[in-house]
Amino acid sequence: MRHLIDPTDLTRKETEDIVDLALDIIANRQKYSDACKGKKLATLFYEPSTRTRLSFTAAMMELGGNVLGFSDAQNTSVSKGETVADTVKVISCFADIIAMRHFEEGAALVAARNARIPVINAGDGSHAHPTQTLTDLLTIKRELGRLDNLTIGFCGDLRFGRTVHSLIKALSRHTGIKVVLIAPEQLRLPDYMKLEVCDKHGVDYREVQTMEEVMPELDILYMTRVQKERFLDEDEFDRVKDSFILTPEKLATGKDTLRVLHPLPRVNEITVEVDNDPRAAYFRQVENGKFVRMALILTLLKWAEENPELGYKLPDGTVVNSKRCSNRRCISNMENVETLFRPCDDGIESYRCAYCESKEK
Ligand code: CP
Repeated sequence: MRHLIDPTDLTRKETEDIVDLALDIIANRQKYSDACKGKKLATLFYEPSTRTRLSFTAAMMELGGNVLGFSDAQNTSVSKGETVADTVKVISCFADIIAMRHFEEGAALVAARNARIPVINAGDGSHAHPTQTLTDLLTIKRELGRLDNLTIGFCGDLRFGRTVHSLIKALSRHTGIKVVLIAPEQLRLPDYMKLEVCDKHGVDYREVQTMEEVMPELDILYMTRVQKERFLDEDEFDRVKDSFILTPEKLATGKDTLRVLHPLPRVNEITVEVDNDPRAAYFRQVENGKFVRMALILTLLKWAEENPELGYKLPDGTVVNSKRCSNRRCISNMENVETLFRPCDDGIESYRCAYCESKEK
């Protein structure tokens, strides 16, 4: 059985097929209106969400299926101590597919290893958000007509921003990708993303201080919120915060074909005046999220019918129960699960946690 926990669970071809299916759904809405008749999606949201949960709900409704689930785990038996593993075993009795968001990194992987139905990671802590990535890819395809030969600026919180990590991973499999990283010192892209994703796949990347200096060369500006709560020093936040606020003046030097994306929610990093610029694509991006989630639900349900064998295939060489993860937000430190590590290909004898990607010796 196939699940979607990380964007790389899908090959580039499978990802493009899902994007193409979403385009067909957009062009032929009626054709898909009964495609999931009699099927049920469970939305298990342990962490707040507007777009992801409601777009999954709308997606299943437009496919003629039904939706059950929760948006506040404290009103469920989680508050009595029920684990993720037990919860998904229970939900597998009621539904055909799960979309799960959790604040613990790796929770979706635990779900996939225990469910009898496909699991979709709708965001696990700071780790990954693969359906946002599919949304972003569909948006870029619709707005610019291509997924290759792009210069994309990522701006804001590149350290904890799970949408940024997931999109860079997905784009690293395309050709001619140039990445410009625009972030304060504290929120720079983690080294493992630079070494094991960008360097490994030949992605051309560089770090800059301001968006103004690169605006004229960008095809995509991918904005994220600079999170005040991540700064140890409030003065430092005050010094950098205005460098990362997009205004019409800063956008003025951008190409006519530039598109501004943001996974949303926004706080103040894009002023509302920018919304009136036709290059601001972030609300169109939200609607694309519904269509691509329709395509993903259809694809995973089809694959589950073709191959109902349970489990989640771990990479060859995964080491079980021989190390501990040092990341306190990792589910392996919260719940009683097997520890899982895969060897890093960094030339040093080190391992990466399969749940959260934290690196350990
Ligand atoms: N983009 C995104 O994940 O939004 P929500 O947190 O509202 O689901």
